[in-house]
Amino acid sequence: MAEYMQVGRALFDEVMVPNYAPAPMIPVRGQGSRVWDQQGREYVDFAGGIAVNALGHCHPALVSALKHQADQLWHLSNVMTNEPALRLAKKLVDATFAEKVYFANSGAEANEAALKLARRWALENFGEQKQQIISFGKSFHGRTFFTVTVGGQASYSDGFGPKPAAIDHAQYNDLDSLKALMSDHTCAVILEPVQGEGGIIPADAAFLRGVRQLCDQHKALLIYDEVQTGVGRTGKLYAYMHSDVTPDILTTAKSLGGGFPVGAMLTTTAIASHLKVGTHGSTYGGNPLACAVAEAALDTINTPEVLQGVLQREQWFRRELAAINEQYQLFSEIRGQGMLLGAVLTEQYKGRSREFFLAAADQGLLALVAGPDVIRFAPSLVIPEQDIIEGMQRFAKAVAQVLNQH
Ligand SMILES: Cc1ncc(COP(=O)(O)O)c(C=O)c1O
Repeated sequence: MAEYMQVGRALFDEVMVPNYAPAPMIPVRGQGSRVWDQQGREYVDFAGGIAVNALGHCHPALVSALKHQADQLWHLSNVMTNEPALRLAKKLVDATFAEKVYFANSGAEANEAALKLARRWALENFGEQKQQIISFGKSFHGRTFFTVTVGGQASYSDGFGPKPAAIDHAQYNDLDSLKALMSDHTCAVILEPVQGEGGIIPADAAFLRGVRQLCDQHKALLIYDEVQTGVGRTGKLYAYMHSDVTPDILTTAKSLGGGFPVGAMLTTTAIASHLKVGTHGSTYGGNPLACAVAEAALDTINTPEVLQGVLQREQWFRRELAAINEQYQLFSEIRGQGMLLGAVLTEQYKGRSREFFLAAADQGLLALVAGPDVIRFAPSLVIPEQDIIEGMQRFAKAVAQVLNQH
């Protein structure tokens, strides 16, 4: 074993760009839905690396796939293709509406590809006037300059100079606001079937049907950003499968690699044909290590047992949260689907999600926020019931801790 230098949280402030504010502790090991920090303190993990560790930490199937591939081949670039990428693409095509796959390394990159493809598709089919991209208030699509400008929070894209143009925002779950913006100049509408960062807000079924209809009417592409909702998180392989609406382009990342960075854009053959050789690319996209792990994750998650288990776990989460709410009257509702849940704080506690999140960490529970008013849970899709119960006991203590301070 190599001798590593000793490092601590203080070093972050010394050597890292200050765009993050990480927690005081540094986790060093994880197993299933438990994590241990440098001091050996144990945490129950309801955060899942922000909806990424879909099979918990160090799942044997993923570890085995990674170790196997590590002994075979790490990287080629896209001058050549590779077996894990081809296998993963075939499985994604077989499991979804899609006929073609483009691999990226993150959610933002998958969305960047989707948006560039939509623009190219519109340009080649209809001409230069068809450029408008519409997304929704509070949406989040990544941090590249294109995706962050498409996202629904201007504060994230302000302050970096001139923004990509022809991007408009409608109100989520408000079809009239979309109708008012749409015309034959619209090239694509992009939406999250459940808004994640925006506060765990599910789209109404009627809204989704209406968006599809408007896209068809104006010959615009419908892009589903399933970076957070995809790969089993809502109890279906992809959230679009809960309804009768099928997108033209779908993006996926986060849970796709179960913790290994990988993203993908899925679409049809006709649409994909507009990204001809040389029009787009990535050195690492389709990396063999990433695709080998993602293949193992997809094989493990896309089974009736795991997908139904997600819905069972949702019931366990809701049961435990209801018991806490009975005692403290803290939440106005529990929103979301499957293992993507948001506990919405009542008027009295609005704006204080971060306090509950910090108190939870104090009590040995990793949770998340989704804006100032929502505590978010995005754990492993296979988290055991006992870990849910124990995590919720810690969460109840955290709630008591916050309330006792006031
Ligand atoms: C819906 C959605 N799209 C895109 C992204 C960006 O993904 P990444 O951080 O991997 O670039 C996120 C990340 O939170 C997301 O939730």
